[in-house]
Amino acid sequence: MNSVADTQLNPVAQPPVVLTSELRKVYRTGFWLNQKVVSLKNCSLQVYLGQTFGLLGPNGAGKTTLLKLLLGIIRPSSGRGLLLGKPLGDRSVKQRIGYLPENPYLYDYLTGWEFLELAAGLFQIPQRVQRQRIPQLLELVGLSQADARKKLMRRYSKGMLQRVGMAQALINDPDLVFLDEPMSGLDPLGRYQMREIILSLKSAGKTIFFNSHVLSEVEQICDRVAILDRGQLICSGSLHELLGSNNTYHVKGQGGDGEILKTRISNLKFEADGSWQGILQDDYYDFLASLRLMGGEIIAMNLSHQSLEEFFIQQIQKQNHSLNE
Ligand SMILES: Nc1ncnc2c1ncn2[C@@H]1O[C@H](COP(=O)(O)OP(=O)(O)O)[C@@H](O)[C@H]1O
Ligand SMILES: [Mg+2]
Repeated sequence: MNSVADTQLNPVAQPPVVLTSELRKVYRTGFWLNQKVVSLKNCSLQVYLGQTFGLLGPNGAGKTTLLKLLLGIIRPSSGRGLLLGKPLGDRSVKQRIGYLPENPYLYDYLTGWEFLELAAGLFQIPQRVQRQRIPQLLELVGLSQADARKKLMRRYSKGMLQRVGMAQALINDPDLVFLDEPMSGLDPLGRYQMREIILSLKSAGKTIFFNSHVLSEVEQICDRVAILDRGQLICSGSLHELLGSNNTYHVKGQGGDGEILKTRISNLKFEADGSWQGILQDDYYDFLASLRLMGGEIIAMNLSHQSLEEFFIQQIQKQNHSLNE
């Protein structure tokens, strides 16, 4: 078995908010239900309190399947999981979680406000609390009260629907929020605003689990990510763990001993004005100290870090390569 267990140490010695162990889902399809689709292969991961966790993967990777398993919408074929310490599907947990589905089915003939009242009713939130919370949520998601009260949702744009969907996901003031592709179908401004909403949830201390293939957004929001490909969790960790070892510095400086510089900087080029530049191979602090001893100085230094996108593509290619071997 080559599934990757998520081995992140728990920084604050608290039990994980989301825990899965060898979770697997096989769908049976075809007229006689005799064909199998393995949508999730033995997935083990943990998410801790207050983390923003991004599950990345191309279409069909199994992201929605994992979310539905966690939410108890579908049952695993094998393996187990805990959500807020309770087994998957436990009803008492539902009060403490929020969910924005991938394609939220909203009621065309309700206004946004009526829809939120409906959602609040399902959680048995008292009218008094609803009257306070609904305007607060509309403010948070950036939907005007006039649109929410007067317009039917069939007249909402995709961005407006996503905002109502988000407000619905937060109606019960959940501790843990699941968002399935919250940015999909939004224009750049809509994506930016959705990111701001997620960041404000994060600063309010919510734990956020979100699925996405919009890598750059994940990079800007998430503390931790996992990459799923064809049902297989291929890596997971903090962004620093995943990308950190690939960081390099591009340095520009002047002075120092050319022979020594050659051993510490690759692609070293000397310019006509006596300056030099290249890629630092050494520890940054060591290099600064030795350069100073050689009488040289740094003019500019830029971190050229590998983007999550590059890392993602590299990992998927590696996975494809090992499957083809
Ligand atoms: N109800 C289902 N019946 C059969 N196959 C399914 C069902 N739901 C999803 N799948 C299959 O499982 C795989 C993963 O799907 P999904 O979890 O929706 O991926 P993602 O959300 O990453 O795009 C796909 O191959 C998809 O066709
Ligand atoms: Mg999906």
